Amino acid sequence: MSTLKIVEHPLIQHKLTLMRDKACPTEAFRRLLREISLLLGYEALRDLPLRTRTVETPLMEMEAPELAGKKLALVSILRAGNGMLDPLLELVPSARVGFVGLYRDPATLQPVEYYCKLPGDLDARPVMLVDPMLATANSAVAAVDKVKAAGARDVRFMCLLAAPEGAARMAEAHPDVPVFTAALDARLNDHGYILPGLGDAGDRMFGTK
Ligand code: PRP
Ligand code: URA
Repeated sequence: MSTLKIVEHPLIQHKLTLMRDKACPTEAFRRLLREISLLLGYEALRDLPLRTRTVETPLMEMEAPELAGKKLALVSILRAGNGMLDPLLELVPSARVGFVGLYRDPATLQPVEYYCKLPGDLDARPVMLVDPMLATANSAVAAVDKVKAAGARDVRFMCLLAAPEGAARMAEAHPDVPVFTAALDARLNDHGYILPGLGDAGDRMFGTK
């Protein structure tokens, strides 16, 4: 699973433990997902290209680095991806934003698409897909298929939790896509839920059942 990068910062691990606790309230769950996403995003975006431009400080002129090339495209897999999208927009306010609406059919575990809106010029932008859960990876693979079909070539995926089954599936389907996660859990249960996991991320974020 060479595409998987586990970000093992102690702050991330501590916050993730708070999120896993079934007693964690909705408001705290959302806040912790935001905080972890900021830390994961710092790592997942560390290779964005830079160029320099001339800046005059109060003391002298210098060549200072700034982001180069077309703006980053952030693509949220609805609906739970939105909990990671907002903090990434705090990090990169100029990013373009796309949405892929997918839900998992509970019987087949196959993704059902209900919405898709992507930024233009994806072939010229770094693209980061976000979704807290990589379980079977059926949803993630379908979303990466969509952005690649729209032209994306530099694609990365950021999640909170990955199952070994999903990480292996992504590595097989899209070996060029690095996957950044806070943890690699033990396995999937018979219903495709990550164990030990944290339950249904969308329900816990939005207080639905
Ligand atoms: C969850 C999660 C992922 C998907 C992961 O979404 O946010 O999109 O399941 O499972 P997979 O790796 O097996 O495809 P869900 O389908 O529950 O939809 P929701 O975000 O609307 O709750
Ligand atoms: N989707 C979730 O929200 N949680 C899981 O454990 C698996 C898929």
